[in-house]
This record gives sequence, structure tokens and C-alpha cells, in this order.
Amino acid sequence: MTPAATPAAVVCGIGGSLPETVVSNDDLAAELDTSDEWIRVRTGIAQRHVIKPGEATSDLAVAAGRRALDSARAQDGTADDAIDLVVLATSTPDHPCPATAPLVAQRLGLGGVAAFDVSAVCTGFVYALATAASMLTAGTARRALVIGADTFSTILDPGDRTTRAIFGDGAGAVVLRAGDAAEPGALLGFDLGSDGAGAEMITVRAGGSRQRSTGQPAPDGDQWFSMEGRPVFTEAVLNMSKSAQELIDRVGWTAEGPDRVVAHQANVRILRAVGDQLGLDEQQIVVNLDRVGNTVAGSIPLALVDALASGGLRPGHRVLLTGFGGGLTWGSTALVWPELATAPHPVHV
Ligand code: COA
Repeated sequence: MTPAATPAAVVCGIGGSLPETVVSNDDLAAELDTSDEWIRVRTGIAQRHVIKPGEATSDLAVAAGRRALDSARAQDGTADDAIDLVVLATSTPDHPCPATAPLVAQRLGLGGVAAFDVSAVCTGFVYALATAASMLTAGTARRALVIGADTFSTILDPGDRTTRAIFGDGAGAVVLRAGDAAEPGALLGFDLGSDGAGAEMITVRAGGSRQRSTGQPAPDGDQWFSMEGRPVFTEAVLNMSKSAQELIDRVGWTAEGPDRVVAHQANVRILRAVGDQLGLDEQQIVVNLDRVGNTVAGSIPLALVDALASGGLRPGHRVLLTGFGGGLTWGSTALVWPELATAPHPVHV
């Protein structure tokens, strides 16, 4: 008798999008007290992409979503109208209310599907994957578009050389279908966590119900994003390493380990430290932040798209995804990379 199948969500399409405008370190140095050398040495970042005035998060989300849908259709021939769920991870929605996902679903022509946003800052994509996967395995949905998209350039203090150096805009997406845990592409499990005691470390203080809008600019620049770089660095290394190891043990990769770790792209020194903690070689750690910076919820799927395009990520690789971000939040998942029918599209919008 064949053993009963274990329901799982299976990755069957992927795509990414970046805005056209590139801001180099030298561009930043022309307007702020910083230098290409400082940014490269302290973060590993050489450039980032930013949206133009008039563009918004949904524009990037739609472009990434479209590419993921194309990739999935080429993979298994299933029409876009089979999608019955859109989950969008973002902390920079088009508007504080309503959620951006319904608009994205409508612009992609997906009909009246379930659509909502997930807010977990840089861990958003992993949380969105977990949410969609849970709905697929419970039978609430059959095929989901999961997008991570952020435009932090819209909430950064123009005079803050630290955050301006780190963050960039971007989006990435995957299509998940209901399937079986034994299939390549199946998400094998999740480790998720949070610590609200660290909420102040990564925050936009004003504009919510605690420090509500008064119609005037908020005092002390509180309408801008703020981050305590040093403690965030320490917490990122600690929590991504712990969460990744927890998941490696849970999915039974303890002996062989993952072939590739795609960690949230915040700082190359964080990535190296996580690699060291997990006992991995440099080529096992996917890095694309040099070209895109920290794209928040777009970070992990954009790194996957990049690694596929460069040949660094191949079918059959045991892949571990791990993220850390505001909340504080963290999370990991794992999969054996599937054969996808199409090469990922060029990432520019
Ligand atoms: N250019 C030049 N100098 C800069 C600078 C920049 N862009 N940004 C900060 N500095 C300065 C600081 O003002 C400070 O100067 P001081 O010593 O005169 O006060 C000095 O560099 C050291 O600052 P520090 O914050 O201690 O640097 P760091 O080595 O910790 O690097 C970060 C700063 C932000 C790059 C680093 O802490 C980091 O990457 N943190 C994690 C960020 C992250 O992951 N965020 C997203 C999480 S989801």
C-alpha cells in the first residue's frame, strides 16, 4: 500500500521587479556626508533601485506578480484564473487603508479572489508564505500568488545617511499550488517568531493610532522610518541563525545541511555571520544586496530570482530561506528547489 500523501504548498512559479532608477553610492555621497567606501565596507551595498514620484508599491507588486504568473503558466499550463488567493507582504502599502493586495489582484485580472496584506517588515515574505501555505494545506485555497513588495524610499528621512545607504525598492513573487510534501518545490515546514520588546528598534513612530496624524508634520521627524543599527545587527544574526538551525533540524537536514541559504539581504556582514554560525561556505550563502540593497519584503524572492539567473541556484538544491525584521520578527522555511519551466524574466519593471 502506498503511504498517504502529506499535503504541502509547492512553488511552481517565480518573478521579480525592480524600478528603473538606480542610485549609486556616489549619488548618495553627492548629497549626504557618506562615501562609496564606507557603504561598501560596512554593508556590502554598491547601489539600490528607487521608484519615481507617482509610482507606488502596487506597481512593483503587479510587475513581479505578472512574471510569477507567467512562469507558473509555462511550468504547468494552468491559467491565471486558477489563482484563488493573493497574499502581499508589505510595510509600505499604497495607502494605510485599505490593503494593497485587492488592488494588485484586480490589476492582474485575477477576479474576486481572496486578497490581503501581511505586515512583518523584512520577515514579511516568509510570514506570507506560511500564511498562504497554511491555507493551501487546509483546503481554503488551491493556488496562491504570494508577493513581497516594498518601497522604503518613500518613508526614509532624506537626511539620514544610514537608512538611505541600506534600503532600496523592489518586489518578488512566487506562485504556490496545493500539492504533496514529497514533490520538489514543497515548503517543508516553518519556524516563525517575534519579540515585541524590540518594537522600537525598527519603527515609523508617527502616523498610526499611537501618534496619530495632526495634519502637521510630526515632531522630531517621527513620520520617517528609524532604525537602531547596532542592536538590530546583533538581533538579526542571532535570530536568523537560531531560526535557520531550528528548521534544518526539523526538516531532517542536520547531517547534510542546506546547499543554499537565502537569507534576508540587509548587510553582507550579517549574511557572513549567519553563514559562520551555520558552518556554511561563502558560496552557499546567496548575496545580491550589492546590486539592490535591502528591499524589505522583496528581499528574499528577489535574491532567489537573482541566484536562478546567475546559475547559483539550481533544481535539486536544498534551499533554506530565513528572514529577520521589524516587530521584531523572524522566520524560516525550506524546500528542494524545483525545475521551473522558464528562466526568470529580467527583473526591471
Ligand atoms: N556613511 C558614513 N558614516 C556613517 C554612515 C554612512 N552611510 N552611516 C552611519 N555612519 C557613521 C555613524 O554615524 C557612526 O559615526 P560616529 O562613530 O561618529 O557616531 C559610525 O558610522 C558607526 O556607526 P554604527 O551605527 O556603529 O555603524 P555600524 O558598523 O553598526 O553600521 C549599519 C551601521 C546600519 C550599517 C549596521 O549597524 C547594520 O547593518 N545594522 C543592521 C541593519 C539592518 O539589518 N536593518 C534591517 C533589519 S531588517
